[in-house]
Amino acid sequence: MTRDEPLVLGIETSCDETGVGIVRGTTLLADAVASSVEEHARFGGVVPEVASRAHLEAMVPMLERACGDAQVRLSDLDAIAVTAGPGLVGALLVGVSAAKALGLALGKPVYGVNHLAAHVAVDQLEHGPLVEPTVALLVSGGHSSLLLVPDITDEVIPLGATLDDAAGEAFDKVARVLGLPFPGGPWIDREAQHGDAAFVDFPRGLTSPRDLDRHRYDFSFSGLKTAVADVVRAQGGRPAADEVRRIAAAFQRSVVSSLVRKSLSACGQTGVRRLTLGGGVAANGWLRAAMAEACVGAGVELFLPARSDCTDNAAMVGLAALPRLLRGEDDGGTLAARSTWPLGDPSREPGIPDSACFR
Ligand code: KG4
Ligand code: ZN
Repeated sequence: MTRDEPLVLGIETSCDETGVGIVRGTTLLADAVASSVEEHARFGGVVPEVASRAHLEAMVPMLERACGDAQVRLSDLDAIAVTAGPGLVGALLVGVSAAKALGLALGKPVYGVNHLAAHVAVDQLEHGPLVEPTVALLVSGGHSSLLLVPDITDEVIPLGATLDDAAGEAFDKVARVLGLPFPGGPWIDREAQHGDAAFVDFPRGLTSPRDLDRHRYDFSFSGLKTAVADVVRAQGGRPAADEVRRIAAAFQRSVVSSLVRKSLSACGQTGVRRLTLGGGVAANGWLRAAMAEACVGAGVELFLPARSDCTDNAAMVGLAALPRLLRGEDDGGTLAARSTWPLGDPSREPGIPDSACFR
Protein backbone atom coordinates (compact mmCIF):
# COMPACT_ATOMS: atom_id res chain seq x y z
CA MET A 1 0.00 0.00 0.00
CA THR A 2 1.29 3.45 -0.83
CA ARG A 3 -0.04 6.78 0.41
CA ASP A 4 -0.86 7.91 -3.13
CA GLU A 5 -3.32 5.06 -3.75
CA PRO A 6 -6.94 6.30 -3.62
CA LEU A 7 -8.78 6.27 -0.33
CA VAL A 8 -12.35 5.05 -0.92
CA LEU A 9 -15.19 4.82 1.57
CA GLY A 10 -17.80 2.10 0.88
CA ILE A 11 -21.35 2.10 2.27
CA GLU A 12 -23.56 -1.01 2.36
CA THR A 13 -27.22 -0.87 3.44
CA SER A 14 -28.96 -3.29 1.06
CA CYS A 15 -30.54 -5.47 3.76
CA ASP A 16 -30.17 -5.65 7.56
CA GLU A 17 -26.54 -4.61 8.10
CA THR A 18 -25.21 -1.06 8.07
CA GLY A 19 -21.65 -1.34 6.80
CA VAL A 20 -19.04 1.35 6.33
CA GLY A 21 -15.67 0.23 5.00
CA ILE A 22 -12.53 2.09 3.98
CA VAL A 23 -9.91 0.84 1.53
CA ARG A 24 -6.71 2.42 0.29
CA GLY A 25 -6.27 0.92 -3.16
CA THR A 26 -6.93 -2.78 -2.52
CA THR A 27 -5.85 -2.66 1.13
CA LEU A 28 -8.47 -2.86 3.87
CA LEU A 29 -8.25 -0.09 6.47
CA ALA A 30 -11.61 -0.38 8.23
CA ASP A 31 -14.78 -2.45 8.13
CA ALA A 32 -17.45 -1.23 10.58
CA VAL A 33 -20.77 -3.09 10.75
CA ALA A 34 -23.94 -2.66 12.80
CA SER A 35 -26.58 -5.36 12.41
CA SER A 36 -30.32 -5.08 13.03
CA VAL A 37 -30.77 -8.87 12.73
CA GLU A 38 -32.09 -9.23 16.30
CA GLU A 39 -34.81 -6.63 15.70
CA HIS A 40 -36.20 -8.82 12.89
CA ALA A 41 -35.89 -12.22 14.58
CA ARG A 42 -39.42 -12.31 16.01
CA PHE A 43 -40.90 -11.63 12.53
CA GLY A 44 -39.10 -14.57 10.85
CA GLY A 45 -37.59 -12.36 8.13
CA VAL A 46 -36.20 -8.90 7.52
CA VAL A 47 -38.85 -6.16 7.94
CA PRO A 48 -37.95 -3.42 5.41
CA GLU A 49 -39.19 -0.49 7.53
CA VAL A 50 -37.34 -1.72 10.63
CA ALA A 51 -34.16 -2.19 8.56
CA SER A 52 -34.38 1.36 7.11
CA ARG A 53 -34.79 2.94 10.55
CA ALA A 54 -31.90 0.92 11.92
CA HIS A 55 -29.70 2.11 9.01
CA LEU A 56 -30.62 5.72 9.79
CA GLU A 57 -29.59 5.30 13.41
CA ALA A 58 -26.39 3.39 12.67
CA MET A 59 -25.07 5.40 9.72
CA VAL A 60 -23.28 8.23 11.54
CA PRO A 61 -21.84 5.99 14.32
CA MET A 62 -20.50 3.54 11.67
CA LEU A 63 -18.97 6.41 9.65
CA GLU A 64 -17.25 7.63 12.81
CA ARG A 65 -16.08 4.15 13.76
CA ALA A 66 -14.68 3.41 10.28
CA CYS A 67 -12.79 6.71 10.14
CA GLY A 68 -11.46 6.11 13.67
CA ASP A 69 -10.33 2.55 12.86
CA ALA A 70 -8.66 3.67 9.61
CA GLN A 71 -7.26 6.79 11.29
CA VAL A 72 -8.45 9.02 8.49
CA ARG A 73 -10.69 12.09 8.34
CA LEU A 74 -13.64 12.34 5.98
CA SER A 75 -11.77 15.14 4.19
CA ASP A 76 -8.95 12.66 3.37
CA LEU A 77 -11.30 10.52 1.23
CA ASP A 78 -10.92 10.46 -2.56
CA ALA A 79 -14.33 8.93 -3.30
CA ILE A 80 -17.54 7.53 -1.83
CA ALA A 81 -19.00 4.24 -3.10
CA VAL A 82 -22.41 2.91 -2.10
CA THR A 83 -24.47 -0.17 -2.82
CA ALA A 84 -27.21 1.17 -5.12
CA GLY A 85 -28.90 -2.24 -5.64
CA PRO A 86 -30.22 -4.86 -5.63
CA GLY A 87 -31.87 -4.85 -2.22
CA LEU A 88 -34.63 -3.33 -0.11
CA VAL A 89 -35.28 0.02 -1.69
CA GLY A 90 -35.91 1.90 1.58
CA ALA A 91 -32.75 0.45 3.09
CA LEU A 92 -30.72 1.26 -0.03
CA LEU A 93 -32.01 4.83 -0.01
CA VAL A 94 -30.46 5.46 3.41
CA GLY A 95 -27.01 4.49 2.09
CA VAL A 96 -27.47 6.31 -1.22
CA SER A 97 -28.60 9.50 0.55
CA ALA A 98 -25.65 9.34 2.95
CA ALA A 99 -23.24 8.84 0.04
CA LYS A 100 -24.70 11.75 -1.93
CA ALA A 101 -24.56 14.02 1.10
CA LEU A 102 -20.93 13.09 1.74
CA GLY A 103 -20.01 13.57 -1.91
CA LEU A 104 -21.63 16.98 -1.99
CA ALA A 105 -20.18 18.15 1.32
CA LEU A 106 -16.67 16.90 0.53
CA GLY A 107 -16.68 17.72 -3.18
CA LYS A 108 -15.73 14.11 -4.02
CA PRO A 109 -17.06 11.69 -6.67
CA VAL A 110 -19.77 9.20 -5.72
CA TYR A 111 -20.31 5.72 -7.24
CA GLY A 112 -23.37 3.46 -7.24
CA VAL A 113 -22.20 -0.14 -6.94
CA ASN A 114 -24.02 -3.37 -7.76
CA HIS A 115 -23.96 -5.49 -4.58
CA LEU A 116 -23.38 -8.69 -6.59
CA ALA A 117 -20.44 -7.21 -8.48
CA ALA A 118 -19.02 -6.12 -5.12
CA HIS A 119 -19.05 -9.75 -3.92
CA VAL A 120 -16.85 -10.64 -6.90
CA ALA A 121 -14.62 -7.58 -6.41
CA VAL A 122 -13.80 -8.45 -2.79
CA ASP A 123 -11.14 -10.96 -3.82
CA GLN A 124 -8.90 -7.96 -4.49
CA LEU A 125 -8.25 -7.67 -0.75
CA GLU A 126 -6.51 -11.04 -1.01
CA HIS A 127 -4.96 -11.05 -4.47
CA GLY A 128 -4.78 -7.41 -5.63
CA PRO A 129 -6.48 -6.01 -8.77
CA LEU A 130 -8.90 -8.42 -10.42
CA VAL A 131 -7.38 -10.20 -13.42
CA GLU A 132 -9.94 -10.07 -16.22
CA PRO A 133 -11.52 -11.84 -17.93
CA THR A 134 -12.39 -14.28 -15.18
CA VAL A 135 -15.19 -16.76 -14.62
CA ALA A 136 -16.95 -15.95 -11.34
CA LEU A 137 -19.12 -18.14 -9.16
CA LEU A 138 -21.37 -15.92 -7.06
CA VAL A 139 -23.15 -17.84 -4.32
CA SER A 140 -24.94 -15.80 -1.66
CA GLY A 141 -28.17 -15.87 0.33
CA GLY A 142 -30.20 -14.32 -2.48
CA HIS A 143 -28.25 -15.14 -5.66
CA SER A 144 -26.41 -18.00 -7.33
CA SER A 145 -24.85 -17.36 -10.71
CA LEU A 146 -22.01 -18.32 -12.95
CA LEU A 147 -20.62 -15.28 -14.72
CA LEU A 148 -18.10 -14.44 -17.37
CA VAL A 149 -16.49 -11.19 -16.28
CA PRO A 150 -14.57 -9.24 -18.94
CA ASP A 151 -14.91 -6.04 -16.82
CA ILE A 152 -16.47 -6.09 -13.36
CA THR A 153 -17.69 -2.46 -13.62
CA ASP A 154 -19.05 -2.52 -17.17
CA GLU A 155 -19.34 -5.97 -18.73
CA VAL A 156 -20.58 -9.01 -16.84
CA ILE A 157 -22.04 -11.83 -18.94
CA PRO A 158 -24.40 -14.19 -17.09
CA LEU A 159 -23.70 -17.82 -18.06
CA GLY A 160 -26.21 -19.43 -15.75
CA ALA A 161 -28.14 -18.96 -12.52
CA THR A 162 -30.29 -20.87 -10.10
CA LEU A 163 -33.74 -21.77 -11.38
CA ASP A 164 -35.19 -21.80 -7.85
CA ASP A 165 -33.43 -21.34 -4.49
CA ALA A 166 -30.10 -19.57 -4.14
CA ALA A 167 -27.33 -21.76 -2.72
CA GLY A 168 -27.28 -19.83 0.58
CA GLU A 169 -31.05 -19.99 0.77
CA ALA A 170 -30.84 -23.80 0.43
CA PHE A 171 -28.32 -23.91 3.29
CA ASP A 172 -30.61 -21.72 5.41
CA LYS A 173 -33.76 -23.75 4.67
CA VAL A 174 -32.07 -27.11 5.26
CA ALA A 175 -30.60 -25.78 8.52
CA ARG A 176 -34.09 -24.85 9.65
CA VAL A 177 -35.34 -28.38 8.86
CA LEU A 178 -32.42 -29.75 10.90
CA GLY A 179 -33.21 -27.44 13.83
CA LEU A 180 -30.05 -25.35 13.37
CA PRO A 181 -30.01 -21.54 13.86
CA PHE A 182 -30.21 -18.85 11.13
CA PRO A 183 -28.20 -18.15 9.02
CA GLY A 184 -27.73 -21.87 8.55
CA GLY A 185 -24.71 -21.98 6.22
CA PRO A 186 -21.99 -21.71 8.89
CA TRP A 187 -23.85 -24.24 11.08
CA ILE A 188 -24.16 -26.82 8.33
CA ASP A 189 -20.51 -26.22 7.47
CA ARG A 190 -19.57 -27.00 11.09
CA GLU A 191 -21.88 -30.02 11.55
CA ALA A 192 -20.84 -31.53 8.20
CA GLN A 193 -17.20 -31.72 9.28
CA HIS A 194 -18.10 -34.56 11.62
CA GLY A 195 -20.65 -36.32 9.42
CA ASP A 196 -20.44 -39.20 6.96
CA ALA A 197 -21.55 -37.77 3.61
CA ALA A 198 -21.88 -41.26 2.09
CA PHE A 199 -24.88 -42.08 4.28
CA VAL A 200 -27.35 -40.92 1.61
CA ASP A 201 -26.90 -39.85 -1.99
CA PHE A 202 -28.98 -36.70 -2.35
CA PRO A 203 -29.86 -35.43 -5.87
CA ARG A 204 -27.43 -33.07 -7.59
CA GLY A 205 -29.70 -30.64 -9.42
CA LEU A 206 -29.41 -30.25 -13.22
CA THR A 207 -26.40 -32.54 -13.61
CA SER A 208 -27.99 -35.39 -15.62
CA PRO A 209 -26.85 -35.50 -19.29
CA ARG A 210 -30.32 -34.35 -20.42
CA ASP A 211 -30.39 -31.41 -18.00
CA LEU A 212 -26.84 -30.46 -18.92
CA ASP A 213 -27.92 -30.02 -22.54
CA ARG A 214 -30.41 -27.27 -21.60
CA HIS A 215 -29.02 -26.01 -18.32
CA ARG A 216 -25.27 -26.48 -18.53
CA TYR A 217 -24.53 -23.58 -16.17
CA ASP A 218 -27.81 -23.34 -14.26
CA PHE A 219 -28.39 -24.60 -10.75
CA SER A 220 -31.39 -26.03 -8.92
CA PHE A 221 -31.48 -26.68 -5.19
CA SER A 222 -35.18 -27.01 -4.38
CA GLY A 223 -35.35 -30.76 -5.20
CA LEU A 224 -32.40 -31.31 -2.89
CA LYS A 225 -34.10 -29.34 -0.12
CA THR A 226 -37.24 -31.48 -0.51
CA ALA A 227 -35.15 -34.68 -0.45
CA VAL A 228 -33.57 -33.57 2.83
CA ALA A 229 -36.99 -32.74 4.29
CA ASP A 230 -38.24 -36.23 3.28
CA VAL A 231 -35.33 -37.94 5.05
CA VAL A 232 -35.89 -35.85 8.19
CA ARG A 233 -39.63 -36.61 8.13
CA ALA A 234 -38.91 -40.33 7.75
CA GLN A 235 -36.88 -40.08 10.94
CA GLY A 236 -39.77 -38.62 12.91
CA GLY A 237 -38.95 -34.96 12.20
CA ARG A 238 -36.40 -34.56 14.99
CA PRO A 239 -33.08 -36.07 13.91
CA ALA A 240 -30.57 -36.93 16.62
CA ALA A 241 -27.23 -35.08 16.69
CA ASP A 242 -25.50 -37.86 14.74
CA GLU A 243 -28.15 -37.82 12.04
CA VAL A 244 -27.95 -34.02 11.77
CA ARG A 245 -24.23 -34.31 11.04
CA ARG A 246 -24.73 -37.00 8.41
CA ILE A 247 -27.60 -35.20 6.68
CA ALA A 248 -25.65 -31.91 6.75
CA ALA A 249 -22.62 -33.64 5.22
CA ALA A 250 -24.62 -35.37 2.48
CA PHE A 251 -26.53 -32.18 1.65
CA GLN A 252 -23.36 -30.13 1.52
CA ARG A 253 -21.65 -32.70 -0.69
CA SER A 254 -24.49 -32.46 -3.18
CA VAL A 255 -24.41 -28.63 -3.33
CA VAL A 256 -20.61 -28.50 -3.55
CA SER A 257 -20.53 -31.15 -6.24
CA SER A 258 -22.80 -29.22 -8.63
CA LEU A 259 -21.10 -25.88 -7.92
CA VAL A 260 -17.65 -27.33 -8.61
CA ARG A 261 -18.67 -29.27 -11.68
CA LYS A 262 -20.46 -26.37 -13.37
CA SER A 263 -17.79 -23.81 -12.52
CA LEU A 264 -15.05 -25.98 -14.02
CA SER A 265 -17.20 -26.67 -17.06
CA ALA A 266 -17.61 -22.88 -17.56
CA CYS A 267 -13.84 -22.40 -17.40
CA GLY A 268 -13.34 -25.22 -19.89
CA GLN A 269 -15.97 -24.03 -22.39
CA THR A 270 -15.08 -20.33 -22.29
CA GLY A 271 -11.35 -21.03 -22.33
CA VAL A 272 -10.95 -18.62 -19.39
CA ARG A 273 -8.67 -20.41 -16.99
CA ARG A 274 -9.33 -18.15 -14.00
CA LEU A 275 -12.10 -18.60 -11.47
CA THR A 276 -13.12 -16.14 -8.75
CA LEU A 277 -15.50 -17.06 -5.93
CA GLY A 278 -17.76 -14.61 -4.09
CA GLY A 279 -20.77 -14.46 -1.75
CA GLY A 280 -21.44 -15.92 1.69
CA VAL A 281 -21.44 -19.57 0.55
CA ALA A 282 -17.87 -19.10 -0.74
CA ALA A 283 -16.90 -19.20 2.97
CA ASN A 284 -17.89 -22.89 3.02
CA GLY A 285 -14.97 -25.12 3.97
CA TRP A 286 -15.83 -28.05 1.69
CA LEU A 287 -16.59 -25.84 -1.27
CA ARG A 288 -13.23 -24.11 -0.89
CA ALA A 289 -11.31 -27.36 -0.57
CA ALA A 290 -13.16 -29.17 -3.38
CA MET A 291 -12.89 -26.20 -5.73
CA ALA A 292 -9.16 -25.82 -5.01
CA GLU A 293 -8.55 -29.49 -5.75
CA ALA A 294 -10.60 -29.46 -8.95
CA CYS A 295 -8.89 -26.29 -10.19
CA VAL A 296 -5.44 -27.79 -9.69
CA GLY A 297 -6.56 -30.85 -11.67
CA ALA A 298 -7.97 -28.70 -14.50
CA GLY A 299 -5.16 -26.14 -14.65
CA VAL A 300 -7.46 -23.30 -13.57
CA GLU A 301 -6.16 -20.51 -11.35
CA LEU A 302 -8.48 -20.08 -8.36
CA PHE A 303 -9.02 -16.74 -6.61
CA LEU A 304 -10.57 -17.35 -3.20
CA PRO A 305 -11.31 -14.37 -0.98
CA ALA A 306 -10.63 -14.80 2.76
CA ARG A 307 -13.54 -16.56 4.44
CA SER A 308 -14.41 -13.48 6.50
CA ASP A 309 -14.64 -11.32 3.34
CA CYS A 310 -17.14 -13.60 1.55
CA THR A 311 -20.21 -12.49 3.53
CA ASP A 312 -21.66 -8.99 3.21
CA ASN A 313 -19.29 -6.14 4.02
CA ALA A 314 -18.78 -2.55 2.93
CA ALA A 315 -15.11 -2.76 1.95
CA MET A 316 -16.17 -4.77 -1.13
CA VAL A 317 -18.32 -1.83 -2.21
CA GLY A 318 -15.34 0.51 -2.14
CA LEU A 319 -13.23 -2.00 -4.07
CA ALA A 320 -15.87 -2.40 -6.79
CA ALA A 321 -15.81 1.35 -7.48
CA LEU A 322 -12.03 1.62 -7.74
CA PRO A 323 -11.68 1.09 -11.52
CA ARG A 324 -14.34 3.73 -12.19
CA LEU A 325 -12.58 6.22 -9.93
CA LEU A 326 -9.33 5.58 -11.78
CA ARG A 327 -11.16 6.24 -15.07
CA GLY A 328 -12.39 9.61 -13.72
CA GLU A 329 -16.10 8.73 -13.76
CA ASP A 330 -18.65 10.10 -11.25
CA ASP A 331 -22.33 9.11 -10.69
CA GLY A 332 -22.81 12.22 -8.52
CA GLY A 333 -26.28 13.73 -8.79
CA THR A 334 -27.72 10.94 -11.00
CA LEU A 335 -27.19 8.24 -8.39
CA ALA A 336 -30.41 6.35 -7.51
CA ALA A 337 -31.33 3.21 -5.54
CA ARG A 338 -32.42 0.16 -7.55
CA SER A 339 -34.34 -2.64 -5.85
CA THR A 340 -33.62 -4.88 -8.84
CA TRP A 341 -30.37 -4.71 -10.74
CA PRO A 342 -29.44 -7.83 -12.68
CA LEU A 343 -25.73 -8.33 -13.17
CA GLY A 344 -24.91 -7.72 -16.78
CA ASP A 345 -27.22 -4.68 -16.94
CA PRO A 346 -24.73 -1.86 -17.47
CA SER A 347 -27.30 0.93 -17.00
CA ARG A 348 -27.36 2.70 -13.67
CA GLU A 349 -30.99 3.77 -13.89
CA PRO A 350 -33.45 3.15 -11.05
CA GLY A 351 -35.38 -0.15 -11.27
CA ILE A 352 -38.87 -1.14 -10.20
CA PRO A 353 -39.27 -1.34 -6.42
CA ASP A 354 -40.38 -4.92 -5.90
CA SER A 355 -37.85 -6.69 -3.69
CA ALA A 356 -37.95 -7.89 -0.13
CA CYS A 357 -35.51 -10.09 1.65
CA PHE A 358 -38.06 -12.26 3.42
CA ARG A 359 -36.97 -15.88 3.36
O1 KG4 B 1 -23.34 -12.85 0.70
P1 KG4 B 1 -24.11 -12.95 1.96
O2 KG4 B 1 -23.46 -12.52 3.25
O3 KG4 B 1 -25.44 -12.14 1.89
C1 KG4 B 1 -26.19 -12.02 0.73
O4 KG4 B 1 -25.89 -11.12 -0.09
O5 KG4 B 1 -27.12 -12.86 0.58
O6 KG4 B 1 -24.57 -14.47 2.04
C2 KG4 B 1 -25.30 -14.98 3.12
C3 KG4 B 1 -25.53 -16.47 2.87
C4 KG4 B 1 -26.46 -17.09 3.90
O7 KG4 B 1 -27.43 -17.85 3.20
C5 KG4 B 1 -25.54 -17.98 4.72
O8 KG4 B 1 -26.18 -19.12 5.25
C6 KG4 B 1 -24.47 -18.35 3.70
O9 KG4 B 1 -24.27 -17.18 2.95
N1 KG4 B 1 -23.19 -18.76 4.32
C7 KG4 B 1 -22.66 -19.99 4.20
C8 KG4 B 1 -21.49 -20.01 5.00
N2 KG4 B 1 -21.35 -18.77 5.55
C9 KG4 B 1 -22.41 -18.02 5.14
N3 KG4 B 1 -23.07 -21.06 3.50
C10 KG4 B 1 -22.32 -22.18 3.58
N4 KG4 B 1 -21.20 -22.29 4.34
C11 KG4 B 1 -20.75 -21.23 5.04
N5 KG4 B 1 -19.64 -21.34 5.79
ZN1 ZN C 1 -24.38 -10.13 -0.28
